[in-house]
Amino acid sequence: MFGFKLNPVATKTGGTSKVSGRPIYLDMQATTPMDPRVLDRMLPFLTEQYGNPHSRTHAYGWEAEGAVDEARQHVADLIGANEKDIVFTSGATESNNMIIKGIAKFHQSKRKHIITTQTEHKCVLDSCRYLQSQGFEVTYLPVLPNGLVSLSELRAALRPDTSLVSIMAVNNEIGVIQPLKEISETLKSWAKENGVPKPYFHTDAAQAVGKIPINVDEMGIDVMSISAHKIYGPKGIGAAYVRRRPRVRLEPLIHGGGQERGLRSGTVPAPLVVGLGEACRIAKREMAADHARVSELSQRLIDGITKNVAEIVRNGDPKGYPGCVNLSFAYVEGESLLMALKDIALSSGSACTSASLEPSYVLRALGAAEDMAHSSLRFGIGRFTTEAEIDLVVERITQVVTRLREMSPLWEMVQEGIDISKIEWSQH
Ligand SMILES: Cc1ncc(COP(=O)(O)O)c(C=O)c1O
Repeated sequence: MFGFKLNPVATKTGGTSKVSGRPIYLDMQATTPMDPRVLDRMLPFLTEQYGNPHSRTHAYGWEAEGAVDEARQHVADLIGANEKDIVFTSGATESNNMIIKGIAKFHQSKRKHIITTQTEHKCVLDSCRYLQSQGFEVTYLPVLPNGLVSLSELRAALRPDTSLVSIMAVNNEIGVIQPLKEISETLKSWAKENGVPKPYFHTDAAQAVGKIPINVDEMGIDVMSISAHKIYGPKGIGAAYVRRRPRVRLEPLIHGGGQERGLRSGTVPAPLVVGLGEACRIAKREMAADHARVSELSQRLIDGITKNVAEIVRNGDPKGYPGCVNLSFAYVEGESLLMALKDIALSSGSACTSASLEPSYVLRALGAAEDMAHSSLRFGIGRFTTEAEIDLVVERITQVVTRLREMSPLWEMVQEGIDISKIEWSQH
């Protein structure tokens, strides 16, 4: 038997985060703990089955290749794809870069326009910004106040020289689920009406695959990005779905041995790939049960907090992914809130931008007031979160928000019935 057992205290309640006094982990959008079953599958490929999957001349290579093939099939099965359309990468950041820059570059002689949204992950936005510096044109679509894209605005932004439309599946800050099928249908019907080639449809599904059903054929997805560490797999591995029929043409970013259909050279890391495959196999089997549990815990958290604390806003469409709950606490400063909640591992905004004190660009794109964007917390619930952990979080949030508000002069004024929006503040 390989692998480790969950901490006995944690297994009693089913959780992983309350281990030996460490904070409760509610930051599942940043990363998830690896499922012990995934580690069990990986370990032999880190020890005795260490062959290079591209070695064709001996058993070490063959067994690693066999394991990589099997993993590729598991990834494909989870998203309704053909296994030949799966390209292994180091994660969703690389997949997004490879797809966005690769498609743009391949089509640059005739089509130099790309459409994305203002609420994408930084790695999509920065890939697009890089392309702008190279002479491409990018439209950053705004979103509606609930975080969804407007299909009519998308249609209006399409141009005959649009090569790619990149719209994420589930937002990492607010959990909003974009209407992928409707988006692809919009692209198809627009292209038909205008007698021009349909732009490729890419979705960054790092927060969606394994959490909600995704089927590339039914949803008309041409290219997609996947990350293992968001679905209880290892860090440093992911995949790009690149449709072959009809074929998506893109220029590779990494050149070398020609692995992965020549799209991503470099030795395929068999242990990590096996981990991604196992994470996908488990996700396919357990997605419905995970989703039901996460939904219950999410409701328990929201009900618990709203019962005890007034003046809270839930950011994003309430029909989004339930494992991502983004709440703004009026009259409380987000950073003070986080500092006071050291016993809970949470994020204000996205983990990748939390080094900066800028209010979240995603919340601002929804039209959230600056102070509400500043006072937001993201609660990320996952497969191993327990009811006991949620109850403790509700208790701590209640205590901390109440205490911070008691110290807030603004809150005092609100309690006295003063409409602070009407106050004219003087500058000194
Ligand atoms: C929506 C989204 N896209 C891309 C990424 C980057 O994924 P990775 O860490 O696999 O590069 C993340 C992770 O933060 C994400 O949430």
